[in-house]
Amino acid sequence: MASVVVIGTQWGDEGKGKIVDLLAEHADVVVRFQGGNNAGHTMVIRGEKFINHLVPSGILQNKVCVLGNGMVVDPAVLLQEMDFLAGRGIDTGPDRIKISEIAQLIMPYHQKIDLARENKKGAQQIGTTGRGIGPAYEDKVARRGIRFVELLEPETFDRMVHEILEEKNFYLQNYFKVQPIDAESVVRQYREYADRLAPHVANVSVVIEAAVRKKRHLLFEGSQGTHLDIDHGTYPYVTSSNTLAANACCGAGLGPKNLTDVIGIVKAYTTRVGKGPFPTELADEIGNRLQEKGAEFGATTGRRRRCGWLDAVILRNAVRLNGVTSLAITKLDVLDGLEELKICTGYEHRGQILDAFPASLKVLAECRPVYETLPGWSETTSATKRLSRLPKNVKRYLKRIEELAGTPVEIISVGPDRDQTIVIKNPFVRAKPARKATPNTPRARKR
Ligand code: IMP
Repeated sequence: MASVVVIGTQWGDEGKGKIVDLLAEHADVVVRFQGGNNAGHTMVIRGEKFINHLVPSGILQNKVCVLGNGMVVDPAVLLQEMDFLAGRGIDTGPDRIKISEIAQLIMPYHQKIDLARENKKGAQQIGTTGRGIGPAYEDKVARRGIRFVELLEPETFDRMVHEILEEKNFYLQNYFKVQPIDAESVVRQYREYADRLAPHVANVSVVIEAAVRKKRHLLFEGSQGTHLDIDHGTYPYVTSSNTLAANACCGAGLGPKNLTDVIGIVKAYTTRVGKGPFPTELADEIGNRLQEKGAEFGATTGRRRRCGWLDAVILRNAVRLNGVTSLAITKLDVLDGLEELKICTGYEHRGQILDAFPASLKVLAECRPVYETLPGWSETTSATKRLSRLPKNVKRYLKRIEELAGTPVEIISVGPDRDQTIVIKNPFVRAKPARKATPNTPRARKR
């Protein structure tokens, strides 16, 4: 049995969806443990594009997909996604999708506050996805959140919505000068969601424990990235949850001794969407080229992602913070044709090389990235199936990443499709021979 956590080592959008999708073939249960529909995982299967925001990527592989208690879930978005998948013949029944009874709900006032707050902040805004993620986590910590268990108790839910809206409407009307929210229509709307989602709501900790006892393979799908973590990221330009691998345990209800592997996803260069520090950002032709060739637009908001060179300082930070056991390098093909490549190996601050990523944004803004230059390659890598077939300079680039991270590269992605991947080691296969996957399609199910 293996329990593998997949996390992003940068600022999100590292291509986790594709790697999770690939590994999910070998897993029995796929779990999301934090975040909400701020995430957008793009998967391409035989040329067809899917973007999942809430449902774990394993749904396409007929796996048990769990939305853990660490998540904040917008039921309207979840139902839309389930309807979309079901419309394509994907099984989204209660045996496939399980929602933690103690996961928090995103309510209409969360999204309204998120947007109103960002508008009011103007130039100081965080650049959130505007999905109500931060306000929902705020309410969780303030102990005035609503969980699925309360959604399923009509009287409790009705009372909570009326009580909470008294305060939220005061805030919306008097501070942001926007329209209040009508409690009755929220209750009516959420009752419909409750009716549809009730069969999926479960104690997912028990479901996961049962899988562990049966020696099943578990895959934990992280969202966002290490440097968007609420504690360890570039605060306050971060998301509102812990994105680190350790949160797979708290956010799903599982003890840490059960985790066996942590795969850190590293895009072959760096991107960031939204505001916040980004030491290796390129505001030049190369930055534009990476953005265009890598089609770097946010999967959730469609915003242009900022692009820059690979940053080994944040990579080392991520390896330490997550206990990364191996790396998966993605979008390597985007670097094809560049004459030379740079990797940031350190930050220089007032004449000194810093040992670790600085906590102060002021210090970070004063840092100068120290670069190492490597030769690029003119060959096209996107059709390469084996490590040995990769051009010499690609291997050199990968080797240097391994050295700087102190961690082996075990998966290499050279294009968006599932078969454009070189798998050196698969933690599930290493742990136990893979059971044949059954794709979640009507034709496959009939067989
Ligand atoms: P929030 O998570 O919507 O509150 O946004 C906070 C910050 O995290 C913003 O800079 C967002 O752009 C960023 N963010 C949130 N989710 C993702 C993601 O899945 N990928 C990349 N950035 C994200």
